[in-house]
Amino acid sequence: MLQRTRSQFYRRWLLGWLGFLGTLLIAACGLGPDSQIVSSPGAQTSNPTASVLRIALDPDFPPFEMKTSDGTLTGFDVDLINAIGGTAGFLIDFNEMSFDDVIRSLYAGETDAAISAITINPDRLAKVSFSRPYFKSGLGIAVAADNADLTSLESLRGRRISVQRGTTSEAKALSVPDAKIRQVNEAPEALQALAQGQVDAVINDVPVTDYAIRSGAVSGIKQVGGLLSEEFYGIATPKDSPNLEKINVGLTTLLSNGTYAQIYQKWFATEPPALPETIPL
Ligand code: ARG
Repeated sequence: MLQRTRSQFYRRWLLGWLGFLGTLLIAACGLGPDSQIVSSPGAQTSNPTASVLRIALDPDFPPFEMKTSDGTLTGFDVDLINAIGGTAGFLIDFNEMSFDDVIRSLYAGETDAAISAITINPDRLAKVSFSRPYFKSGLGIAVAADNADLTSLESLRGRRISVQRGTTSEAKALSVPDAKIRQVNEAPEALQALAQGQVDAVINDVPVTDYAIRSGAVSGIKQVGGLLSEEFYGIATPKDSPNLEKINVGLTTLLSNGTYAQIYQKWFATEPPALPETIPL
């Protein structure tokens, strides 16, 4: 009886010590990362001129903004704004949201700038400011590859048209008499609906539909009717933002030093067209 009690005592004593030593060990390991965290704000402030630019974007508009399978943001706009950050001395902080929220987030003061293949137009210019144009684009119609009837905007009268909500494509579709419009959150969903025969046509930015066909993301569709409109994309900021000038200077630098052309080549495998220096509206 006594024997048992004594061995229990030693066992507890030993376990107690082991537990204590274990706690010390864990605490010691814990110190490593903690001390690193303490030092990291110091590292960030080592470049006092770099300020953080909170960028709004809707990351589902390939090849302008999209995510790789591991969730990394990529695309023409992502490369461009990162390069602007590099020349203009901004640290880029991406804030993902639906396209509908992108411009709203600017005037709500939640973000500092937006890049999302945003067409510069009078409606938007009433609410936010835009950089000089950075991309020449336009709207187009996509239909099933074997459809010979739908060839123009007029031919879409009374048809089922899918568009991304809040876009210039939506506005264009609303101008078609008697059209049955199906708004979706992201442009790729509209193209999928067309490929599956759920709608008769999609109105979308031509380079995005082109890329979807070229990359094999959708099959059995084609573009018809040429360009419905010529549009220019700009980087948007809240009105009177002190960052707009720096963004414009950065963009101009990239346009003249060949970086813009390099990024364009990477995503579109061709030379970029000439761009106007100011907003052509
Ligand atoms: N260019 C069109 C517009 O401004 C569509 C842009 C959609 N962009 C996006 N990232 N989903 O209305």
